[in-house]
Amino acid sequence: MHPYNDRMRQDIDRILIDRETIARRIQELGREIAGDLADSIGDDGLMLIPVMTGSITFVADLMRELPLRMRIGLITASSYPGTSTTSQGVTLEGMLLPESLEGRHVLIIDDILDSGRTIRRVREEIESRSPRSVRSCVLLRKRIPEALETKCEYVGFDIENEFVVGYGLDYDDYYRNLPDIGVLREDIIHATGGSR
Ligand code: IMP
Ligand code: MG
Repeated sequence: MHPYNDRMRQDIDRILIDRETIARRIQELGREIAGDLADSIGDDGLMLIPVMTGSITFVADLMRELPLRMRIGLITASSYPGTSTTSQGVTLEGMLLPESLEGRHVLIIDDILDSGRTIRRVREEIESRSPRSVRSCVLLRKRIPEALETKCEYVGFDIENEFVVGYGLDYDDYYRNLPDIGVLREDIIHATGGSR
């Protein structure tokens, strides 16, 4: 392993989901999503809308398990500014979407479902543009009532209520390039002023 990865792993309490397990689950998700959508998307294909920045790694892997005609649009949502680890309310900052989503089948992709505010806000924004269908897919979902009650069609893994990083997920924008998903050490969060 690259020495930089070793250093990042020192900040991790433990690896929660390793890269091989992630890859296997994404293959299954791909088969499930493709099976559900293949017959309905038609010539326009699917509109994939990853929520930036946390879903970059996930969408790169998932899209290659989706043998469907598709285009990609981007939305940037921010709910955890800097070192906070609790949601501060969601702002949609940038949207790189086609002019119209009318009649399109949309799949929203995010890294993790926590309070559910991000997915709900993004879904509301997409639904206001008259698409034919909207589904959402997250890699992780925390086992807390708000997350479990939020509508989301595809979930990779249900995890306990811990702050995780890696595979696209960040703390203060760091650790996104860790290839596995790990639980961040509590003292790192406290040392940099994050609140839980
Ligand atoms: P929600 O709006 O509370 O559901 O939070 C969703 C967003 O918060 C995700 O897109 C992540 O960027 C971020 N987030 C929530 N939980 C975690 C975590 O455990 N680690 C890193 N980011 C997280
Ligand atoms: Mg984030």
